[in-house]
Amino acid sequence: MPEPAPALERIRQIGFGFLASKTFLSAVELGVFTELAENPASWTALTDRLDIHPEIAADFLDALVALGLLERNDGVYRNAPDADRFLDRNKATYIGSHFEWANARMYPLFGNLTETLRTGEPQTAHSEDKDVFDELYGDDALFERFVNGMAGMSSRVAEILAESFEWEEYETMCDVGASKGIVPVIVAEKNDHIEATAFDLPRLEPIATEFIANSGVADRVSFHAGDIFEDGLPEHDVFVMGRLLHDFDLAHKRELIQRAHDALPEEGALLVYGTMIDDERRENDDALLMNLYIQVETNGFDYTHEQCQSWLQEAGFSRTMACDLPGRGSIVVGKK
Ligand SMILES: C[S@@+](CC[C@H](N)C(=O)[O-])C[C@H]1O[C@@H](n2cnc3c(N)ncnc32)[C@H](O)[C@@H]1O
Repeated sequence: MPEPAPALERIRQIGFGFLASKTFLSAVELGVFTELAENPASWTALTDRLDIHPEIAADFLDALVALGLLERNDGVYRNAPDADRFLDRNKATYIGSHFEWANARMYPLFGNLTETLRTGEPQTAHSEDKDVFDELYGDDALFERFVNGMAGMSSRVAEILAESFEWEEYETMCDVGASKGIVPVIVAEKNDHIEATAFDLPRLEPIATEFIANSGVADRVSFHAGDIFEDGLPEHDVFVMGRLLHDFDLAHKRELIQRAHDALPEEGALLVYGTMIDDERRENDDALLMNLYIQVETNGFDYTHEQCQSWLQEAGFSRTMACDLPGRGSIVVGKK
């Protein structure tokens, strides 16, 4: 009996998924969608403008047509509507910065998955006193892509947090591992009584200070430079930890949660967001795959809603709850 076609097609898509992925990531890297947003063009014109070789230019562009990212009419290429909206660097709706990060860092690093599966070790330069951030932040190009990639990933979550959490019950918040401070800025923008702090390593200070200064809420948002493990957390009513815990092993995850708990007042809250695994560990392929990636890159791992809530309860949070955010993220809230 021949295999049913959908089953074979599913296996084929998984096996060759990297071809589509890398074609798309290279198009973002080369700025194809930004170039075409302004000027639809023939492949010959694009050869020069994108600095791609004439032998392969039409093949590359036609592959993007087949992926539904470009359209071609009478030899003229233009962006498909969604690509135009989300992948043109000159639009506020641009989401390409995290794909620039994926292309520069995640794609090559994930090629080492088998080594991590054999050894259980990350494939980056780790040691007792050097973590992944020392490595990332030592390379200016990676640093910039990382910071922009994080901001691209977190701006939607920041909006949701700013609009849906009960900020009226609190006066101060601190985003721990805030990167350039997108969450504190958006929370302060939408809640005009909140004083917000972005806490991150000193390497972030120049870029965060500039970002905050250019926001409309610089009088209520400040940057706090420090190392969470060495300096502890300054007292605040609410702490946020976004995409932070997954970078660390269990002992460090627990230490961070405990530090937050101890620095909160009674009724204070900890909000943990990120890509979390479904409790049955079988549904959320995005989270289960990201959990493999993070182990190739760091000593950390992703976790289920249930695990996260249990760590908060062990640290002393009396009430915890979890919910899914639009777009596959999740949030766990603990109240002291
Ligand atoms: C994966 S990023 C998440 C950024 C941001 N929360 C978001 O969701 O977009 C983790 C952040 O934690 C910061 N971080 C890592 N280790 C830290 C430490 N020991 N002290 C302070 N910040 C740290 C990094 O610099 C980085 O900005």
